[in-house]
Amino acid sequence: MPTALIIGAGPRVGQASAEAFTAAGYQVAVASRKQSIGPNYRHYTLDASEPDQVPALFEKVSADLGVPSVVIYNAAYMSGMTPPDSPFEKGLEDFQAGMNVNTTTPFMVAREAVKGFEKLGPSQLGPAGGTFIFTGNMLNVAVMPGMLTFGMQKSATANMIKHLAEAAYNGKPYKFYYVDERHQDGTPMLTDLNGPGHAQHFLNLVKDGKQRPWDQTFVTGKGYVEFP
Ligand SMILES: NC(=O)c1ccc[n+]([C@@H]2O[C@H](COP(=O)([O-])OP(=O)(O)OC[C@H]3O[C@@H](n4cnc5c(N)ncnc54)[C@H](OP(=O)(O)O)[C@@H]3O)[C@@H](O)[C@H]2O)c1
Repeated sequence: MPTALIIGAGPRVGQASAEAFTAAGYQVAVASRKQSIGPNYRHYTLDASEPDQVPALFEKVSADLGVPSVVIYNAAYMSGMTPPDSPFEKGLEDFQAGMNVNTTTPFMVAREAVKGFEKLGPSQLGPAGGTFIFTGNMLNVAVMPGMLTFGMQKSATANMIKHLAEAAYNGKPYKFYYVDERHQDGTPMLTDLNGPGHAQHFLNLVKDGKQRPWDQTFVTGKGYVEFP
């Protein structure tokens, strides 16, 4: 049975993804600071503001359930809006906390995910290959007043994913995605984020052995949509 690891698993995207991957025949490991999505999934405590915790998490999950061929990073740190004309209001400590959760820990997670894909090799990965998914938003391509630091951090991780998909592992059976749910008209979901919609889209990306566009803007019920 393949293993899926969901980091930053809470009641919306995390819960729906754990259910969807279990139904698709995966052993599911979930990681967050506290267990909040029910006892059916093996929970690991991880604080994503501590990037150093990542290798030990992968070691434990690999020993308990097997090396993950699917890794989903869904944790996020948003310090809150600044007044639009005061973008530097949040201090260095807040910026660094956000960097850790939104950029540095995803870097460590992608690194461990790839190590796992290499360990599994093409025979154990099977035709679907290995998949790393990061839950994003439109801040990698848009500015939103009051969200300078969150935008910087999501953008940096988007760049990592683009690099991994298009340069470093182009041609390997590994896929890397920045997933950004939108409304039909291309506007951001904000509080309307759809958990099951994400889970279905993740599953579609995982099942397809080919790398699709790394920046997966999608609409629930429709799939990938390229917005201008
Ligand atoms: N497309 C859009 O417009 C849009 C809109 C909103 C959100 N989003 C994105 O969606 C994702 C979140 O989705 P969701 O809220 O539905 O997910 P969720 O699965 O309901 O919850 C996310 C979980 O992440 C965990 N988390 C937060 N900080 C963490 C940390 N430092 N270490 C470990 N775990 C941590 C929290 O659990 P613990 O408290 O137990 O750690 C939380 O329950 C984010 O990446 C966000 O940027 C996108």
